[in-house]
Amino acid sequence: MREIEKMSFETKCVHGAYKAESGQPQVLPIVQNTTYRYYDSKDVAELFDLDSPNFMYTRLGSPTVNALEEKMALLEGGTAGIAASSGMAASFITICNICQAGDHVISATNIYGGTHNLFGVSLKKLGIDVTFIDQDLPLEEILKSARPETKAIFGETIGNPALSVLDFEKFSKAAKTMGVPFIVDNTLASPALCRPIEHGADIVIQSTTKYADGHASCVGGVVVEAGTFDWAASGKFPGMVEPDESYHGLSFYNKFKDQSFTLRLRAVMLRDFGCTMAPMNAYLTHQGLQTLHLRMERHCENALALAEFLKNHEMTDWVIYPGLKGDKYYDLSQKYLPDGAGGVLCFGVKGGKAAGEKFLSHLKLTSIVVHVGDIRTSVLHPASTTHRQLSEEEQIAGGIRPELIRVSVGLESISDIKADFDQALKAVK
Ligand SMILES: Cc1ncc(COP(=O)(O)O)c(C=O)c1O
Repeated sequence: MREIEKMSFETKCVHGAYKAESGQPQVLPIVQNTTYRYYDSKDVAELFDLDSPNFMYTRLGSPTVNALEEKMALLEGGTAGIAASSGMAASFITICNICQAGDHVISATNIYGGTHNLFGVSLKKLGIDVTFIDQDLPLEEILKSARPETKAIFGETIGNPALSVLDFEKFSKAAKTMGVPFIVDNTLASPALCRPIEHGADIVIQSTTKYADGHASCVGGVVVEAGTFDWAASGKFPGMVEPDESYHGLSFYNKFKDQSFTLRLRAVMLRDFGCTMAPMNAYLTHQGLQTLHLRMERHCENALALAEFLKNHEMTDWVIYPGLKGDKYYDLSQKYLPDGAGGVLCFGVKGGKAAGEKFLSHLKLTSIVVHVGDIRTSVLHPASTTHRQLSEEEQIAGGIRPELIRVSVGLESISDIKADFDQALKAVK
């Protein structure tokens, strides 16, 4: 085990993955190029045979992006990671790495609207069928959705924007019973609050656009594997195990063992789909990760304080925040998010949808943006924006009430945030 792996999460955020040797830049450098020079074409042939860890062409990997990938794998506690151009790209290549036309995936309903659309519409067009389930159903009910062609079960640590908390123990049992990987989108928690691999996840996805970057400066995604899934056991994953003709009959699982999922993502998915993260974005995301532990602590503290304030406000009907006593997911948040339930909360203004819209128009400090995880407090009305492609029934099934306002609580002083919400709520009266 490397020295850094034994250290605390905070130290991993600050020092993980990149370490300057004597005379080298103290900060991770941006290697901005497309390709790498070799003296001997035999060395290049080795790269094409996946026999060399060196870099070949930036679509398949590059030093700055690689440092980010290593840092994420370290923070999530996985064996390897790969960066992608966005969180959506990360989810897409994760599914495509193990599914093809005719295959099936089980997913929690309470997931990000974009992922819901990817699963329910775009993957369907490719012949991959996704069954959406109520994540709070008992295990036996969830297992009723299993089919011989089921290849994965998927959920979000904290559902965006329903703010449901995933029952990892139950989902992990379901995955094991079906012999499929348990895939978790950990975007809203970030590894500072929850490390799904410690609770049985086989693959963890993050939209790094959110808390990893944290400053709303770049779009990106990352996939980390636990390295524990036996891809050969069930016989369900020929792409991982059987000879790949595009690599002279190589078996990813036999050759790369606990990093085989990641190696296949790189060698096949990035090669064919080209959804690579740019070095500049990897640099910015890495920069953000260095303060992730501190930011998440304050995001959680401010979110809990704002949730309590809104709960007691005469102009609100309801508040959802998993860290709030009495919340439907309070117990699960105490179990899986003991250091804080994240920086996002939802609430309904008295007077329904129209009052909610009026409230938004009176905010001064707080911004209306399509984003969460920024240092600046931001709000959004999902029913008319991120989730507008879904029918009202689908929205409600996904936890989106018409009057719901999602708040991403930032790092400003909590008294200034409360004052801004208070004056905008009073203006609705
Ligand atoms: C939970 C979650 N997963 C995935 C995504 C997609 O990420 P990106 O916008 O980086 O493609 C988002 C975006 O909001 C998200 O909130």
